[in-house]
Amino acid sequence: MNKHVLSICDLPREQIVSVIDIANYLKNPLNTHVSKTQILRGKILGMIFQKPSTRTRISFETAILQLGGNAINLSFNDLQMSRGESIEDTARTLSLYLDCIVARVYAHGDLEKLSLCSKIPVINGLSDLFHPCQILSDLMTIYEYKKKLHGITLAFIGDGNNVCNDLLLGCSKLGINIKVSTPPGFEPLKWVVNIAINESKKNDSYVLITNDPVEAVKDADIVTTDTFISIGKEDEKEKRDTLFLPLYQVNEKLVKHAKKDFIFMHCLPAKRGKEVTAEIIDGPNSVVWTEAENRLHVQKALLIKLLNPEFDYKIY
Ligand code: CP
Ligand code: NVA
Repeated sequence: MNKHVLSICDLPREQIVSVIDIANYLKNPLNTHVSKTQILRGKILGMIFQKPSTRTRISFETAILQLGGNAINLSFNDLQMSRGESIEDTARTLSLYLDCIVARVYAHGDLEKLSLCSKIPVINGLSDLFHPCQILSDLMTIYEYKKKLHGITLAFIGDGNNVCNDLLLGCSKLGINIKVSTPPGFEPLKWVVNIAINESKKNDSYVLITNDPVEAVKDADIVTTDTFISIGKEDEKEKRDTLFLPLYQVNEKLVKHAKKDFIFMHCLPAKRGKEVTAEIIDGPNSVVWTEAENRLHVQKALLIKLLNPEFDYKIY
């Protein structure tokens, strides 16, 4: 396992499968005894959040507590970093006390600096470029509903943002066809798309980037989106609403092009009436609450793989 998880780039295909495998095992009610044993007793997770979070922060804290460890919440403003101490010196110091760091930052480069000087694993809890923990949960959710990953098709509609970048990597590594549709100028990162295309070739799947949402949703097994206004983009709200609506909204009219048994996913938080209508996110095809629940199981699995790699659930 790579020491740091800053994006899905850091996780080879077999590691992704292994995280999902452990997460599925821990989720099974028959295995609650394992999920609640002291697998990570004595381990301390530091949680640095520069931006707000409901799911990531709380699922990580719950995960480490249920596995017998502890969490320390480090609001950015409480650290000397807010007074100018370097990220590098902060990483060196935290490595002396903690076992792992999860950090949510504005600039992905800050996470890279943190990980370069950290002797303990650093997990990306969301940066401007990537959101690997969300995508692990998404892949687990897709497998749960579709019973397979290879050969199915996912359509991402909206902003080619952090979630979209890591979805491209996750889907292509597992052989899921991925079609992304954004307004012109909001496409995902070109170098990420190139890696995804290479991965998809190895895994006998395809990547399509288009400005036409109907082309993306056509015959999709999964339709997903994210907010048009990511944290930090609030000043672009009016411009984005104008460019994204109504064409890039997931609504009844658009999903008519998907397969009949498509599932709708969203990392949350959602803005009903913007990127998705209430009838879709609250409708029968939506699996957003399972997707949110799976964050907890995936967080546990990831922490186990990083902090107790010898752990073998099969012997429990
Ligand atoms: N999906 C997600 O990361 O949610 P939070 O911003 O609430 O953590
Ligand atoms: N793209 C969103 C994801 C939130 C979980 C953001 O960066 O705000």
